[in-house]
Amino acid sequence: MKREGGSEAAKRRAGERAAEAVSEGDVVGLGTGSTAAHAIRALGRRRADGLDVRGIPTSHQSRELAIEVGIPLTALDEVGGVDVAIDGADQLATVDRSAGVDGGETATSDRGEPTAALIKGGGAAHAREKVVDAAADRFLVVVDPSKLAATLDRPIPVEVLPDAVPVVEDALRGLGGEPALRAAEGKDGPVVTDNGNLVVDSAFGPVDDPAGLAAALSAIPGVLEHGLFVGMADVVCVGHEDGVDVRRYRTSEG
Ligand code: A5P
Repeated sequence: MKREGGSEAAKRRAGERAAEAVSEGDVVGLGTGSTAAHAIRALGRRRADGLDVRGIPTSHQSRELAIEVGIPLTALDEVGGVDVAIDGADQLATVDRSAGVDGGETATSDRGEPTAALIKGGGAAHAREKVVDAAADRFLVVVDPSKLAATLDRPIPVEVLPDAVPVVEDALRGLGGEPALRAAEGKDGPVVTDNGNLVVDSAFGPVDDPAGLAAALSAIPGVLEHGLFVGMADVVCVGHEDGVDVRRYRTSEG
């Protein structure tokens, strides 16, 4: 799925702000994509300045970059937990809000902070991302304003066991989706994920109930993981050309 650009300066500001939230001794989930890459580079600079930090990559891309910038790597089975994860998103909407997200004011529900719903997986890394982001004590999302939407409406990436593609596509149509197997660029045939699976992007139009759709997608046999991340984000750093808007969100647990 083609990911749309956004200002590189805005992405850099978002990534660098999130990297500032990392503390001495932290285990950090390293997200995938161009915005998370700015955070990884900033963490590499902090590491070079003496910060004790270890990273858990969410993709081949983030692993290679972490090695390049000198962040020591670890894995979920080698640590007691993940302190913070920093990751990008393809689209972000606020749910339980009393007003829409308009790129300016942060909307707030009667119960305190609003809840964030994300679409991820534009880089086909959402399965590992969801495991690492969900394991983190704090999940920081880094985006530029082009990712903000009143309602999620981009196609939702679904990672699928290769043999299960036809039946999963039927199930997606049954949920009202329009599935399309993601084609590779620079290779004949489909995109193959870092886990050896295929990706079906399913358009549903505006998603009014992200949590309900997320549960329905998770229940389809053959679906490894889908790109709806609902109620997971603690903080969203929205980078702009001239600053960063830091938004706090309520998670499903709290
Ligand atoms: C990777 O699969 C995605 O979930 C990325 O996090 C997402 O595509 C964001 O990428 P950019 O920061 O490059 O837009």
